[in-house]
Amino acid sequence: MRILSGIQPSGALHLGNYFGMMRPAIELQERGEAYYFIANYHSMTSLFEAEPRRKNTLDVALDFLACGLDPKKSVFFKQSDVPEVTELAWILTTLTPMGLLERCTSYKDKLARGISPYHGLFAYPVLMAADILIYDSNIVPVGKDQKQHVEVTRDIAVKFNEQYGQTFVIPEPQIREETALIPGTDGQKMSKSYGNTIEIFGEEKATRKKIMGLVMDSRTPAEPKPDADKNTAIQLLKLVAPADVAKDFEERLRAGGLGYGDLKKALFEHYWNYFSSARAKRAELVANLDYVNAVLTDSATRARSLADKVLKRAKVASGLD
Ligand code: TYM
Repeated sequence: MRILSGIQPSGALHLGNYFGMMRPAIELQERGEAYYFIANYHSMTSLFEAEPRRKNTLDVALDFLACGLDPKKSVFFKQSDVPEVTELAWILTTLTPMGLLERCTSYKDKLARGISPYHGLFAYPVLMAADILIYDSNIVPVGKDQKQHVEVTRDIAVKFNEQYGQTFVIPEPQIREETALIPGTDGQKMSKSYGNTIEIFGEEKATRKKIMGLVMDSRTPAEPKPDADKNTAIQLLKLVAPADVAKDFEERLRAGGLGYGDLKKALFEHYWNYFSSARAKRAELVANLDYVNAVLTDSATRARSLADKVLKRAKVASGLD
């Protein structure tokens, strides 16, 4: 079984990235042949500066390795180190109906937020399809916001197979219901573009401030809260605290008598503890950047040799070769 997923270097990684994709991806590396990459080509649709891209790319590599991605088990590389993927994207784009892309909600959301509709933003899912198909991927662990893009990938692969003969493996998205949509500090989906993120490796003081600033209702501590399970702080606490501790806070909030300040303080402490060993590992990696760069380069060579084979298959099937 081959597992594949990608993550954009468009800013510091946050708890949505971690629980939605990175942790499942790290667990899956025990169960198959895992290919994970830093989607720097995709980041060009929203980040238009070179230096932040370079810096974020290294940061994503450090964050993912610190969180437990094991380069002995997974192939971990930069998307642009396998340029074959852009060639496949062109081939796929010739079979992609406009309507399929026009229906993509992430594109529509971006337009609705006033982002200029560049062609790259529109064609984003086709490059993502190429990412997935070029490694014969079976399973794609992602958060809920990427599900539609994996469905587009399946549609494009089926179309190609029908047109030119059996060529691509049809992938399956893998989404965990409990962590499909991690809420941010304002209760909406945690996302860099909403400015509501809690970083995995945020600076202590700034992160404490963000967590203490989580948006809550105006209830007094004594009041019971029947829908305690919908509270953002409780939802986040369930991710970072032992199950019995989180349950206890939830019950106290439901019954009345627990103030939001105490709940947020507990959330910060558990969050800080949860990532403490990863934080130490990250500091070691920062002191050993040659190792990090070597991981990316070696992995790219391995990824490229597989990509080359699959691209060749598609070129033969479609009469290019
Ligand atoms: P990106 O960089 O936006 O996010 C990386 C992963 O994090 C997940 N995620 C979340 N999950 C739950 N709750 C949240 N609040 C949350 N925020 C982010 C995303 O669902 C994603 O899995 N297009 C992709 C990158 C990509 C890719 C690929 C992924 C490029 N090619 C091929 C899979 C396969 C993206 O922008 O992810």
